[in-house]
Amino acid sequence: PTNGIDLKEEIIRLKKEKNAVFLAHYYQIPEIQDLADFVGDSLALSQKAAEVDADIILFAGVHFMAETAKIINPEKKVILPDFKAGCSLAESAPVEKFREFVEAHPDHTVITYINSSAEVKAYTDITVTSTNALKIVNSLPKDEKIIFAPDKNLGKYIMKETGRDMLLWDGACIVHEAFAVDRLLELHKKYPNAKIIAHPESEMPVLKTASYVGSTAGLLKYVQEDDNEEYIVATEAGILHKMAQAVPHKTLIPAPTNEDNTCACSECHFMKMNTLQKVYNCLKYEYPEVHVSEDIRLKAIGSIQRMFELS
Ligand code: 13P
Ligand code: SF4
Repeated sequence: PTNGIDLKEEIIRLKKEKNAVFLAHYYQIPEIQDLADFVGDSLALSQKAAEVDADIILFAGVHFMAETAKIINPEKKVILPDFKAGCSLAESAPVEKFREFVEAHPDHTVITYINSSAEVKAYTDITVTSTNALKIVNSLPKDEKIIFAPDKNLGKYIMKETGRDMLLWDGACIVHEAFAVDRLLELHKKYPNAKIIAHPESEMPVLKTASYVGSTAGLLKYVQEDDNEEYIVATEAGILHKMAQAVPHKTLIPAPTNEDNTCACSECHFMKMNTLQKVYNCLKYEYPEVHVSEDIRLKAIGSIQRMFELS
C-alpha cells in the first residue's frame, strides 16, 4: 500500500470502471508485467492493440509503442504512464533529416523499424519489428532497393542473413550497444554449457557469439522450446522476469555490459521510467494521453497495415 492506497487493487478497479485494457512490454518492471492484461513484444502488442474492445488503452512501454496503438485506434483514448519514456532509436531519426534522406533516394522502398515516430512512419512504406523484419525483407523482390532505418545493427544483421544490400540509417539502441563482447566471452568461460542468445539490436560481435538471435518474443520462445539448461541473455534484463516464470528450472544469466555502465545488466531507463504509481495516476486522471494529428496518422497507417499483411 502507498499513502493508504493499494495500488494494484486500485488499478484493477479503475481498469474495470473505465473499460480500459492494460498492455505492457516485456521490458517493464515485474509488478507492471504481472498486473497487465497482455504482455508482449512490439509486434504482438501492436496486433493486440488492433483487436482490443476497450474505451481506453493503457500502454506501459515507451512512447512509440503507445503512439502506434493510437495510429491504429484513433477513436480510442491511449494513455501512457510517463510521456518522457522515449527510445534512443526513435530519437536517432529526426523527421526532417529522415525526410531529406528518403527524398534523396526516391527509387528505394523505405522499411522502418517500429521504434520510430509517427512522423517518420509517415515517410515509410513498410514498418517492421524485430520479429518480422527478416520475413518482410525476404518477401520483397531480390533486386528491390531498400532503405532500412533507424537501427543499423538490426539492418546489418538482416543484410548478413538475407545476403542483400540495404541503405542503412545510422541509428542504434543505447541499451543493446552497451553489451561488452569481451566480458560476455569471459562470462561464457565460467558457464561453458550456457547458450548465448541475443536481440538483433545488439552489435555484430555480440550476435556472432549467439546460438540464437531473435526478438524478445523469439528469445522467450527459444528458452522454452530448446533443451539446454543455461542461457546468457543479451537483451534488456526485463525479459528475464517472463523467462524465469516460463522456465523456472533453467539458469538465466543477463549478459554483461561495459565497465562504465552503471547497471550490472542492461536496463532501458526509458522502459524503467514506468512505475505502478504512474500507472495508477495515468489511469485515474487519463493523462498523459497520446495524440497524433489526423494528417500524420493517415500517412503513417499504411506502413503499419503493410506490416500486418506481410507478418
Ligand atoms: P521487441 O520488438 O523485441 O519487443 O523489441 C522492442 C525493443 O524496444 C527492443 O529494444
Ligand atoms: Fe528503445 Fe533500446 Fe529502450 Fe528498446 S531498449 S525502447 S530500442 S532504447
